[in-house]
Amino acid sequence: MFQQYETAKADFLAIEPRFQSDVMETLSRTGFDEAEAEITAWEGYKSTSIFDLAGLADTLGLKAVYYKHEGPRFGLGSFKALGGAYAVLRCIQRELSDTQGRKITVEEIRNGHFASQISAMTIISATDGNHGRSVAWGAQMFGAKCRIYIHAEVSAFRADAMQNLGAEVVRINGDYDETVAQTRIDSEEFGWRIVSDTSWPGYCLPPLDVMAGYGVMAREIVQQLPEPPTHVFLQGGVGGLAASVNAAFHQEWDKAAPRSIVVEPELAPCLFASAKAGAPTSVKIEEETLMAGLSCGEPSQIAWQILENSVHGFMTIPETLVAPAVQMLAKGQSGDCGIEAGESAVAGLIGLICGATSPSLRDEMKLDSESRVLIVGSEGVTDPNLFRAILRNHD
Ligand SMILES: Cc1ncc(COP(=O)(O)O)c(C=O)c1O
Repeated sequence: MFQQYETAKADFLAIEPRFQSDVMETLSRTGFDEAEAEITAWEGYKSTSIFDLAGLADTLGLKAVYYKHEGPRFGLGSFKALGGAYAVLRCIQRELSDTQGRKITVEEIRNGHFASQISAMTIISATDGNHGRSVAWGAQMFGAKCRIYIHAEVSAFRADAMQNLGAEVVRINGDYDETVAQTRIDSEEFGWRIVSDTSWPGYCLPPLDVMAGYGVMAREIVQQLPEPPTHVFLQGGVGGLAASVNAAFHQEWDKAAPRSIVVEPELAPCLFASAKAGAPTSVKIEEETLMAGLSCGEPSQIAWQILENSVHGFMTIPETLVAPAVQMLAKGQSGDCGIEAGESAVAGLIGLICGATSPSLRDEMKLDSESRVLIVGSEGVTDPNLFRAILRNHD
């Protein structure tokens, strides 16, 4: 049934994480608490569902497979809704506090005290789609101007979604990493504020806020599951999602936290390369992966530090499995309900199937009939045209 996965070339590198407490605390409980208090008060907040994929678990010889479905998140299609918008608010708050010479509260921002100052601010960000949508939404919600930088391959549908939230969308000649570089140049020149989901030396506050926002999702999972899973498979772009989830799980579950495996496209393996080198390492994107949200060549510095302390294995997966996995999930496997998800959402699922169906990987990953595995379905159908084409082409 999973022949394609069994014969696919999935690279895996096992690591023994150290969980150094000072590094794990980079994402502090207080930071997660503040983000949770703010985001869960926003209009439209609702915890997303976890699906019990019992048919898939049975077929793979596992005890349970849980799928957290982030498609409905705030109507924006992905877990990224939690991070960028919250980081925009914090960025505005910091900027106002600087200019006013005192700590400005979120309440003052919300009740319109500083509306004219905020309307003069410009927030900028680079994106493959989902982070930019969240930033645009946050800028609109709190009243700032917004410019979003995208590369040539980001689909027109995803660009429109950001424009519809009031952002000016700027297409850059180059890949994701070059769009990030352009935001750095323009912020220097024009005094615009970058709200990035990735960090670099000297730039870490907004990415930390972004990751604190993702903690809302991690804490929902802690509430929703009957007991901690034994494994979690997390897709990696710059590493923010995996770092946040690992830090939050470690805080909530301590030693019972699951073994964490990070899964990346073979075309954008910057975290895998970093694990191999033992230090943050960039890779050149030669070709864009179908998993647009994961097409990142440079790891987030701050996320990387948490990952090297909390990940048990890094993995790359081949492109050929993406469309079949989207299709399989949409149809439902062995009696499971169908779930409509985007290309970047299925990387963890692919990693799990490759791992569970290969005797050597199964052994290395410590997967067996007692394993309870969590997958984070990080996006729903964020580009319906692409989704329809995938289903059509693989029927
Ligand atoms: C749907 C989706 N999943 C996963 C990721 C990876 O997140 P990170 O870049 O924080 O590793 C992204 C990033 O944009 C994404 O859009």
